[in-house]
Amino acid sequence: MIIMKARKRIGIIGVGSIGSIIAKRLISKGYKVFGSRKAAFKFKGMNTTTDNRYLIENSDMIIIATKQKDIKELAHILRPHIGQKPVLSLMAGVSIGQVERILGGTKVVRIMTNIAFGSGQAISAFCCNKMVSASDKAAVKAMLGTGGDIIEIEEKLMDSFTVLDSCAIAFYSTLLNSVNVSASKTLHLDPRLAKWIIISTMRATLEKASGPVTFEEMIRQVSTKGGMTSAGLKVFAEMDLYGVVDKAYEAALKRGLALSSIAEQS
Ligand SMILES: NC(=O)c1ccc[n+]([C@@H]2O[C@H](COP(=O)([O-])OP(=O)(O)OC[C@H]3O[C@@H](n4cnc5c(N)ncnc54)[C@H](OP(=O)(O)O)[C@@H]3O)[C@@H](O)[C@H]2O)c1
Repeated sequence: MIIMKARKRIGIIGVGSIGSIIAKRLISKGYKVFGSRKAAFKFKGMNTTTDNRYLIENSDMIIIATKQKDIKELAHILRPHIGQKPVLSLMAGVSIGQVERILGGTKVVRIMTNIAFGSGQAISAFCCNKMVSASDKAAVKAMLGTGGDIIEIEEKLMDSFTVLDSCAIAFYSTLLNSVNVSASKTLHLDPRLAKWIIISTMRATLEKASGPVTFEEMIRQVSTKGGMTSAGLKVFAEMDLYGVVDKAYEAALKRGLALSSIAEQS
């Protein structure tokens, strides 16, 4: 006889942009999900409530997917009722130590993912405090694994991971949007036709880059000396595109620090 291990019931406090994506994915994979939001709302397939105490009572692990400023308010409900249930904090910039201080000595897992969780194509990272047991960790991995690949990383790398994983979807979309806008403005192409060409070319670029070739080698392969590509690349270099990316990443990391103090002060 095969004994199926029951899936954990997941409570998600904060069913906003990312919380709702995670909820939908988990539901599609057969998890029982409880979601809360300040205002009453409906969500197909999910048990919803505005009562976080009720959510905690009916869940085996709790994901906090609210903004950083909301954690202190949540502490009043979480502290007395959380017991041995692991708390998974998705709040960017907020450390395990901070969550421990705010919620009291409890099982804390810091997690990070991106919106590709919804299609099972995300990379999600996690790190745990010492109170998290091996079986808790296995349950966290199973749950995060529904959204794609998972890695356990040192907490000191979590902000960097956030920039390269969670923020990156917006960063890449900004770069691609700038290409799309320029394609119609400067190259005089229909925006929809341009978008189709951009996506096809980007897909081919990523496909090739997935092999052993480096990005630098790919640049060299395409840029004929004195050709059109080289002329365009010269402008990227003159405008210091790499420096711009450095500055954007630095700004994102700095904001992570600010968000962490918002959680502490709120
Ligand atoms: N967006 C992303 O791609 C992403 C990726 C990784 C991590 N994160 C992190 O995830 C968190 C949420 O980001 P988001 O973009 O999803 O923000 P969001 O869309 O503003 O969602 C936050 C949600 O929290 C709810 N909320 C606030 N206080 C609550 C309470 N006491 N009880 C229950 N629900 C409460 C809000 O409900 P109401 O609308 O009813 O006020 C809102 O739906 C942030 O800490 C962020 O750093 C985001």
